[in-house]
Amino acid sequence: MKRFSFESPTVIRTAFFFALLCFAISSSANDLTGNWVARNPQPDGTSRDTYLDLQQVGSRITGHIRVTQFYYSIVESTGGPDTFILTGSMMDGHNERHVKYEVKRVGDELHVATRRRPDSELIEMVAHPAPAGEGRLPARLPLPELHDVPNNGLAQTPPMGWNSWNKFAERVDDPAVRAMADAIASNGMKEAGYQYVNIDDTWQFGRDAKGNIIPNKKFPDMKGLADYVHSKGLRIGIYSSPGPKTCAGYEGSYGHEEQDAKTYAAWGIDYLKYDWCGARSLYADEDMQAVYQKMGDALLKAGRPILYSLCQYGRAEVWTWGAKVGGNAWRTTGDIRDSWESMSKIGFAQDALAPFARPGHWNDPDMLEIGNGGMTEDEYKVHMTLWALLAAPLLAGNDLREMSPAIAAILTNSDVIGVDQDKEGKPGRRIGKPGDQEIWARPLSGRKQAVALFNRGAEPAAITVRWSDLGVKSAPAGARDLWAHKDLNLPSQEYTATVPAHGVILLRLGN
Ligand code: GLA
Repeated sequence: MKRFSFESPTVIRTAFFFALLCFAISSSANDLTGNWVARNPQPDGTSRDTYLDLQQVGSRITGHIRVTQFYYSIVESTGGPDTFILTGSMMDGHNERHVKYEVKRVGDELHVATRRRPDSELIEMVAHPAPAGEGRLPARLPLPELHDVPNNGLAQTPPMGWNSWNKFAERVDDPAVRAMADAIASNGMKEAGYQYVNIDDTWQFGRDAKGNIIPNKKFPDMKGLADYVHSKGLRIGIYSSPGPKTCAGYEGSYGHEEQDAKTYAAWGIDYLKYDWCGARSLYADEDMQAVYQKMGDALLKAGRPILYSLCQYGRAEVWTWGAKVGGNAWRTTGDIRDSWESMSKIGFAQDALAPFARPGHWNDPDMLEIGNGGMTEDEYKVHMTLWALLAAPLLAGNDLREMSPAIAAILTNSDVIGVDQDKEGKPGRRIGKPGDQEIWARPLSGRKQAVALFNRGAEPAAITVRWSDLGVKSAPAGARDLWAHKDLNLPSQEYTATVPAHGVILLRLGN
């Protein structure tokens, strides 16, 4: 007779299967495996969703997390058996981005908590099962060979207009755009040269069965809106991304470039801002030229002149290839904010890019914050002056219905705009930097020059420009102070003026 023994193979096998069964029963109750979605519905009828596509083996969890435009791979999971901490990682250009999510299964729900930054508030959400594959990063489409996109002939001077993002962000809608067109047409801005009324991110809903892009509830009739803006003698702009999603997590143009360009043309769109954003999950910075070329070609094919504005934050030395993809302007920096620090840091750092701008193709240090309330009037004059010297696009970013006369006067100063729009299109350069002060000069047509004396310091300062610094032997014949609206008699060697803290004096020499 066989004696019972713990070593017996039958007992070992039975015990093993019993243990496995117990594990399966206990873990199936809180197994995280599955595709989960936490929906965040928006008033415009769209939804900002977080997908967690998870596989659990024992206490190890792998898979992907998609947060609007970002697609992370899970590189680490800790904790358990109930609550896990997942670390997601993705490459963004040459930087690695990380996110941390705490997840716990509760019945048929996944309870999820995260922070945007380690020190910011805890965001809690509940995810539910989603169909397998939903929310997954689409396959990476092959890129075209590089070639030079023919010039569209637009933007012979830097584009001027208004853009919704800085003031309205996701609150932009059809009535607001119409109201801005009304304002530009009636408050002197149109006469001053402002032309484009541009809708930034958050106008999209999704795609119809044929893949056509459709606007969300905020924009019930894009063609009607374009007709309205055109009826005011103005032009209209729109926004998209080469990625599957825009920065705000709305539908991008990925794989639909030609189709979208045709739709824009059919609506009567005159300007496209094309924002890298969601493309970062699929492509490297080295791919940007080919990615942007795709839309450059598509816009030309669409058969309507559409100004092409590249927005990829000045990465991959865009100024060296922006014109080749048909770009009329390219962002040279990350996003501006309505503060002296942000504006001055961006504006005064543009000197070395001057040689790359020319008629039809402009450096874009981002949109104006003038009138949004975060800077003083002197600081906003510095903003306007710098952008004019840089031959930058002048896209107002404030609510044009409620501007003070002082702000309107800054935005519509025709002498300063004349500097920005000078037809030779040569941006200014820094010619001196005594301490906290900077002197910049821009060559203008007709052998004139614009000279700006900037005071970045916190106290008023006397600033001197010598004519020899400008490469001229004697005092220029005639000069005008473009903010004081005064003609000046210049001394023979140099000119000295006291400039307010965070202020500027802008002269046009050689009247
Ligand atoms: C990026 C751009 C901004 C704006 C937002 C919209 O941050 O740089 O100018 O378009 O996206 O989401």
